[in-house]
Order: sequence, then C-alpha cells, then structure tokens
Amino acid sequence: MKSMVILAGAVLCAGSSAAQFNYDEAKVPKYTLPPALKMADGKPVKTVKAWEMQRRPEVLELFKREVFGRSPGRPKRMSFHLVEESPKALGGLAHRRQVEVRFSGKADGPRMTMLIYRPAKARGAVPTFLTLNFRGNHTVHADPAIRLPHSWVRGRTKGETVNNRATEKGRGVAANRWAIETILKRGYALATIYYGDIDPDFHDDWKNGVHALYPKPKPDGWGSVATWAWGLSRALDYLETDRAIDHTRVAVMGHSRLGKTSLWAGAADQRFAIVISNNSGCGGAALSRRAFGETVKRINTSFPHWFNDNFLKYNDNENACPVDQHLLVALAAPRPVYIASAVEDRWADPRGEFLSGKHASPVYELYGLPGLPASKQPAVNTPSMGTIGYHVRTGKHDVTNYDWAQYLTFADKHFKTKNKK
Ligand code: GCU
Repeated sequence: MKSMVILAGAVLCAGSSAAQFNYDEAKVPKYTLPPALKMADGKPVKTVKAWEMQRRPEVLELFKREVFGRSPGRPKRMSFHLVEESPKALGGLAHRRQVEVRFSGKADGPRMTMLIYRPAKARGAVPTFLTLNFRGNHTVHADPAIRLPHSWVRGRTKGETVNNRATEKGRGVAANRWAIETILKRGYALATIYYGDIDPDFHDDWKNGVHALYPKPKPDGWGSVATWAWGLSRALDYLETDRAIDHTRVAVMGHSRLGKTSLWAGAADQRFAIVISNNSGCGGAALSRRAFGETVKRINTSFPHWFNDNFLKYNDNENACPVDQHLLVALAAPRPVYIASAVEDRWADPRGEFLSGKHASPVYELYGLPGLPASKQPAVNTPSMGTIGYHVRTGKHDVTNYDWAQYLTFADKHFKTKNKK
C-alpha cells in the first residue's frame, strides 16, 4: 500500500491538498456522455429486447473490461455452515443466525461470516437488506453474541484492533449507522458481512482474501470492488437456501466504497431485487466526466487495488472511457435503484450522483417505468422516488436513520410490503 494518512473516511496522500480538486460547478468541464440507448457503433436501441440482448451485454462487458474487472463464478466446493443461532436475540425482537461461507469448502481457507437478524415474529420468508460492513459484524450492534471477525481489520478507534485483529472494544461502535431495530420492526431482515472477510482493503497484489484461491488476474481481472461484489453474490447463494429469507426480495445496500460495490453487485448479478447506493461517489454513482470532488486519477492513485488496471487509462482522460456511471445505474434496469447523497459530502459529488440517476432514466422509460421523476436535483431532505429514487440529505458522508427511513419506504413501495411505519 502507498503511504497515506487516513482521516475519517477521506484519504489524503502525502503532499496533496484538497485545493487541487474542483468544487466549483462553473468549472465542471464540458462533456458528452455515452448515450444509454445507443450501441457503441452508433446504432439506436429502441426496444427492451435490443437493450437486453445487445446494449446491456455491451455495457456490462465494458464495465468488466475497463473498470471493475472480471470475477469468477460460484466456487464449486463452497459450503455453508450455521455457526450460531438464537430465536430470541435483541430482547426477543430478532431471530439471529451467524453463517460461515467457506469459499473452497475448507474451514481454514478463505471464508466469510454472515450475521443475519430477522424479525422473530415473522411468519414466512421476509424481504432482506444485504450489506457489507467496514469494521466487523460485531461493530453493527452491541449484541454480545456477535462473533468477532477472523480477518485483518483496520482499526479506527483506540483499542478497536490490536495488530489488525478486532477486539471487544469495537463491539457496537458503528451501531449508529445501522437502524437494526427499525428495520426489524418494519418486517425486514438485515444480513451483513465484514468486507475484509472477502478481501482485506489494502493493495497486496492479489494474495489475501478470496484472491488466494485464484491465479493473479490480468489487467482486466477483478479489483477489490468487484471482489466484494462477488462476495455479496455468494451471500445471496446462501440466502437462496435459507427458507426464512425471501431471496427474490433482497435489496443490496452499501455506503461509500461499499456503495460502489452494491451498484456493481446489482449490475453483475440480476438476482438482487433492489440496489441502494449510499454516498458512493467516484466509481459509484457520480459521473466521472464531471471530475467534481474526487477524480478517476485520484481514486486510482489512492486506492490502486479497487478497480482493474485498464481503468488507469482514464486518469485525467475520463472522456475516453466508453462508459460513465449513469450506465452502471442503467444496468440495474428494470429493477429499482436508490441513490443517496449528503450535502456536505462534496467529495462524492452529490449533483453528479443525481445526474447518473437522471441519465439512466431513458432505459427505465423503455420498459414503460418512471426512472427518476425529479427533473432537477431535488431540494435537501426531499426524496424523489420513481423506479429510481434519489435524495440529498443534510449532513456529512455517513449512513443515518434518515437514509434508512427512505430505503425502507422505497423497499415497501417496490416490494409491496404492507408494514405500518
Ligand atoms: C475515500 C474515497 C472514496 C470512498 C471513501 C470510503 O474517501 O476517496 O471514494 O467512497 O473513501 O469508502 O469511505
């Protein structure tokens, strides 16, 4: 990993300053987006069939080749193991399961542990939010039964890790980002996995995490974002076997780099029924060509392991890229997508995140669905919800109860869940 200083979610490489990044709308360069409904050779795409059979595969292939990289499929020997269960967790509100997914079937090989809370009183299979977490499953709630992660963890607060191993001090430290009780009371399950179980978040030349099972990739091989997204698909493989979960109603949600991940997971795996991007920014929902806040060059420099090596070609050269991020949103069509921004999260370019939703809308309209209904970026704390939803809330780069409240409303609307607020 290159030398860098980590500051509350932002990473500043030594010697750089925020001043070199553009935060002035008037200085956004002129750009032309690759149209969603035109083939790369200029042929118009006029029907759902042409989108699904021609343009969508073309766009998906471009994202694999030029941006995220190619991932393998489901490993043949992967196995699932229920390692802990309680029907009376969280004071009786939840049924808790902890499931280990062994990617090669081996107990000492690469593996991830999924924590699943579902409403204890639910009858039948429930819709579920599936999300990765940054600091270990035990950080999402103070529940003492949640297992500490076995993998490398980057600690953020004193004592949270010792030698990159999680300690009890981290229990519940990220709970304010997880509206678990609210989610359960609204009739949804929450399944979460520590992202470092899939691939530890530092550049090690594809040695650790699940990469250990595969040969070192070529320039179009999977970067970490694609690897985390692959892990979400493996989680869904398990959820398909869990009769308490309605695997046809799984919303994949992620924040920041994990929001980039949820968008790619939803694009690459059409089993995800709803896709939610929380403050995903550059390489996520924000249009790269705007170069507002974080740029392609910057992200490739700070995080060389997130994308594939072909993406480096677009450093200071965004216009040459055959895709932009509105097409990543469009790959979810006709499934619902929600994009959330925060006013103070200018690094992630809230307006660029909105515009991705807007420019993905023609694909939804081809299906006869409303895309993003707002014609202009909606006012602060005023969500707009069509088949694409968007809000920009007050505050900073974070996941808040406000964000979760919108995701629940959006999921109720599209999953037709009849839960009272
Ligand atoms: C950095 C990075 C962003 C990323 C964020 C995060 O700020 O520049 O692209 O979204 O970290 O994942 O926390």
